[in-house]
Amino acid sequence: MRLAIFASGNGSNFEVLAKEVATGCLNSHRIACLICDNPKAYVIERAKQYKIPTYVIQPKDYPSKAAYERAILEKLAQEKVEFIVLAGYMRIIGTTLLTPYSQKIINIHPALLPQFPGRQGIQDAFDSQVAETGVTIHFVDQGIDTGPIIAQKKVKIAPNDTLETLETKIHQVEHDLYPKVLAQVLAD
Ligand code: GAR
Repeated sequence: MRLAIFASGNGSNFEVLAKEVATGCLNSHRIACLICDNPKAYVIERAKQYKIPTYVIQPKDYPSKAAYERAILEKLAQEKVEFIVLAGYMRIIGTTLLTPYSQKIINIHPALLPQFPGRQGIQDAFDSQVAETGVTIHFVDQGIDTGPIIAQKKVKIAPNDTLETLETKIHQVEHDLYPKVLAQVLAD
């Protein structure tokens, strides 16, 4: 399967997926390209190291969301992308992309959805002083971090956790879970 990964920032999940494609549980698949909406994102450096073609496409360069997503679709067609993996892509996917890739886009979110959707899932859980939070992997629909849930894993918030230690724990769980769940989804 030819995958596109969409990311906006650091790209630690991107890198884990790239490693697993190179030598691990995703080795029968290919990352055809990285789609990035932020020219300053560190994920671009990571993609260079793995020699993965990168397209930086910014909404501000297009008159509408539909036009922005049509520009992405063009690259996906060029790279023969069959499945899309969101890994820290901080935008809502519109119908222009959803229609041709229906049931073929998954996302990872750093909380136990439907709790704490949005951009700050870890911080929102931490501030709410809940005893546990976690990680969710789900199919993408028109909503913000909605769509059918594929897998979830809980993470306990210890009394001595800081936001930073909680972030570290969540990212560890993400890095363990995402490649395995993606491999399973692609096998199905
Ligand atoms: C991850 O924690 C991911 O779950 C989150 O962005 C982070 C990206 O980290 N996504 C969302 O919050 C989506 N709503 P990374 O760039 O190091 O992979």
